[in-house]
Amino acid sequence: MARLAPHDALTVARIVKVNHAGEFGAIRIYSAQILVASRLWPDCVPSLSEMLGHERTHCAAFRAAMPSRHSRPCRVMQFWSLGGWLLGFLTALLGPQGIWACTAAVEAAVHRHLDDQLFFLAERDGELHSIVLAIREEELAHLHHAEEQLRSPGPLLDLLRSMISVATDCLIWLSTWGDSSRMAHALRAAKCTQHIG
Ligand SMILES: [Fe+2]
Ligand SMILES: [Fe+2]
Repeated sequence: MARLAPHDALTVARIVKVNHAGEFGAIRIYSAQILVASRLWPDCVPSLSEMLGHERTHCAAFRAAMPSRHSRPCRVMQFWSLGGWLLGFLTALLGPQGIWACTAAVEAAVHRHLDDQLFFLAERDGELHSIVLAIREEELAHLHHAEEQLRSPGPLLDLLRSMISVATDCLIWLSTWGDSSRMAHALRAAKCTQHIG
């Protein structure tokens, strides 16, 4: 890996930390949804189980990328752990449409974050760039699957998706203790510099 300026190295470390926390949250969301769905909506279980498998692989990939980037798991992952589980549990109680609205909202938020990161990583950390690129493909497949299942879009579903989107961002912020906003700030700053330069 090329030597990075200290502030870039710090942002890379934050990217891995925030992503690892996010993947951990996704594992908790899907686990809770599978628990409810296996009793109430068994048709949803195969897709949810496949997605859970992907999230476990993603989480492990970011965990493995940590040591060489001087990054460590968040110390307050309990927020994601409990919050993610509750989010999954409550949306699954609403029925399959609640499950897919949650998946669509979470995956859309994840996709947004990953896109910004790819831009930053392209010239700074090729290895992490490839990891994020491969993971983004799977997250996009999750998003498309969820959107295909949402049969009756309407204001109520839009409201639910917006609420879950806000909840997801709050959970990521809490579980990374503000590192997610510092990361976003650094990514925005890098984008501006690129445009000016
Ligand atoms: Fe993931
Ligand atoms: Fe996902």
